[in-house]
Amino acid sequence: MKIIIAKNYDEMSEIAAREIADFINNKPDAVLGLATGGTPAGMYKELIKLYKEGKVDFSKITSVNLDEYVGLSGEHEQSYRYFMDDNLFNHVNIDKSKTFVPNGLAEDIDASCREYDQRISELGGVDLQLLGIGGNGHIGFNEPAEYLYQGTHQTELAESTIEANARFFDSIDEVPKKAITMGIGGIMKSKKILLLASGENKAEAVAQLVSGKISTKAPASMLQMHGDVVVVIDEAAAKFIKRA
Ligand code: GLP
Repeated sequence: MKIIIAKNYDEMSEIAAREIADFINNKPDAVLGLATGGTPAGMYKELIKLYKEGKVDFSKITSVNLDEYVGLSGEHEQSYRYFMDDNLFNHVNIDKSKTFVPNGLAEDIDASCREYDQRISELGGVDLQLLGIGGNGHIGFNEPAEYLYQGTHQTELAESTIEANARFFDSIDEVPKKAITMGIGGIMKSKKILLLASGENKAEAVAQLVSGKISTKAPASMLQMHGDVVVVIDEAAAKFIKRA
């Protein structure tokens, strides 16, 4: 696991955007696994800037997103489809027909999850998976639990996640209680992983991720078993990492 400690959120965003742009420049037809949330928003802004400067080209990229709320349509401002359109896709030359986000309105959610995994495997798998991390150590919406899932599945959000995400909604009652998320197996299958974290409220989860015991109660700790993970965090999120 390679750990890059940035001074602050802005520097984290710049470093991460450069990592992604370099990755795309080396593999212009890459399959990117994308993530949403407050953490990557600044990184997407930087990526748009790099695109406008002619330093990265999305024309051959395919993207698959990590997760989506159940019950929200892509037009809902808090859906992850809307987030992706608004924060990246509408501002770069990506072919939108090659951008995939789980369908939060699917009639048969289990079947649509299986189709999602099928699509990812037909695409040849995810080349680079971007991740944030929940304050409770979740990745995607794989919440701390007795057991974790391999494939894409429907899940209930932890109370702490509902509380954390309430800041994006008018009231906590509007936060969906369920979501669709790629499973830990799906995340682990991606060839490379880039995880971002910023702020002291992520410091404990980051310490677990980097050097804690591997446990389903700290889903991000599973990433210790992946061979190619780059973690870009700011100093506040690095607070509890033991330095050698
Ligand atoms: C959300 C998402 C995750 C995200 C995490 C942290 O609920 N499902 O994919 O990484 O929680 O979000 P934020 O970056 O807003 O702190």
